[in-house]
Amino acid sequence: MIKASDFGDDFKWGVATAAAQIEGSAVEYGRGPSIWDTFSARSGKIKKGHKLDVACDFYHQYKEDIALVKFLGFKVFRFSISWSRILPNGKGEVNQQGITFYHNVIDECLLNGITPYITIYHWDLPQALENEGGWTSFSINSAFNAFVSICATAYGDKVKNWIVINEPFGFTSLGYMLGIHAPGKTGLNNFFSAALHTALAQAEGGKILRSEVSNANIGTTYSCSEIIPYTQSDNDVLAAKRVDCLMNRLFVEPAQGLGFPTANWDVLEKFQIEYGTWRLNDRMKFDFDFIGLQNYFPLTVKYNAFIPVIQAWEVKAKSRKKPHTAMGWEISAVSFHNIIKQFGTYPNIKNIIITENGAAYHDKIVEGKIDDQERIAYFELYLAALLEAKNEGLNITGYMAWTLLDNFEWAEGFTTRFGLVYTDFKTQKRTIKNSGYWWKEFLKT
Ligand code: BGC
Repeated sequence: MIKASDFGDDFKWGVATAAAQIEGSAVEYGRGPSIWDTFSARSGKIKKGHKLDVACDFYHQYKEDIALVKFLGFKVFRFSISWSRILPNGKGEVNQQGITFYHNVIDECLLNGITPYITIYHWDLPQALENEGGWTSFSINSAFNAFVSICATAYGDKVKNWIVINEPFGFTSLGYMLGIHAPGKTGLNNFFSAALHTALAQAEGGKILRSEVSNANIGTTYSCSEIIPYTQSDNDVLAAKRVDCLMNRLFVEPAQGLGFPTANWDVLEKFQIEYGTWRLNDRMKFDFDFIGLQNYFPLTVKYNAFIPVIQAWEVKAKSRKKPHTAMGWEISAVSFHNIIKQFGTYPNIKNIIITENGAAYHDKIVEGKIDDQERIAYFELYLAALLEAKNEGLNITGYMAWTLLDNFEWAEGFTTRFGLVYTDFKTQKRTIKNSGYWWKEFLKT
């Protein structure tokens, strides 16, 4: 059995959340609408027509929820700032009630000996900016930079740990290429222009934080998945390389001054030429103090000529009879280990924090308890793999579990539960799951 102390005394143990998924009070206290408010109002976009209006009501219950973080024994609380709560129109006039709310959250953390990690952008773009083209528009960069600067000025004296963007590949692909997340746009042109502006935003946001927050510890996060070819045929191996470019390399390489990873995929080569992205290589570069890695599943892929552009197809865990979570995501601690190692080979990555990792299951309350043994087994497996990777010499300095509370799981609405704490969405009652108690014991060891 591994112990928390095996990771060393300075290792940061935390739990992560995001504004849109927990806050609620979507139309109150001066907040403007975000793309997720608009998207969830469109019929058929979110399972069961769920909306974010109340979510976990963190806006009103943040004190109790931070008390839970403390009770579970975590020393780090990661949360994000809702852009449209600070700037209801995305730019221009600042909503003072929004500024005050995050001061309250930060102060409550500090009072309880918990270090806040702020994510500046976790997917909830103000609708007013989406009306101007959102991430596909060049004007997004000046608006984002102004937002970063407002956050840095307001909170930089108290908060030293910053994450510029949460999973750029996640929101640009799901929201601007596949249309299954807000704002629901589709197509390669939307995706590539969103990707370019996001790659610029991550670096420029980092530079602003560096100049405006003294002693800042600045990172950004990436989703990552080991990509495994279904067979060793050339076609499958090349398909896996293309998917790797897209899912793992697309944003981390520009940040390191390497530009977009064009070598293994001619479509990216074309994108770089059409958009002249190589001219922006310097602007997309930023020397992050840490990289946040977020891992949920590996992907096994197969060549498929009928799939436009990427010509690759996922062979699902279920069809291969592999263990998986309620999301259908394959459970593989070996792949977790391998993908951390893959990111660890970049010479400019100095420090890795796992900023999200966790699992959804069909939790049920039985006699007031949630006995989520599968989730406990998942954490045990993944933490053992993490320790192995750390002991091999990778500079891994923290781990944040996803997530504190069952919450609004984007297009899945409230149907999918990832929390260490069960949320009854009718009464807002919180019940700590057995996995939460497992963490409490683990963190004492
Ligand atoms: C996102 C979270 C999300 C989690 C589980 C990550 O991609 O950052 O917001 O809830 O995955 O799907």
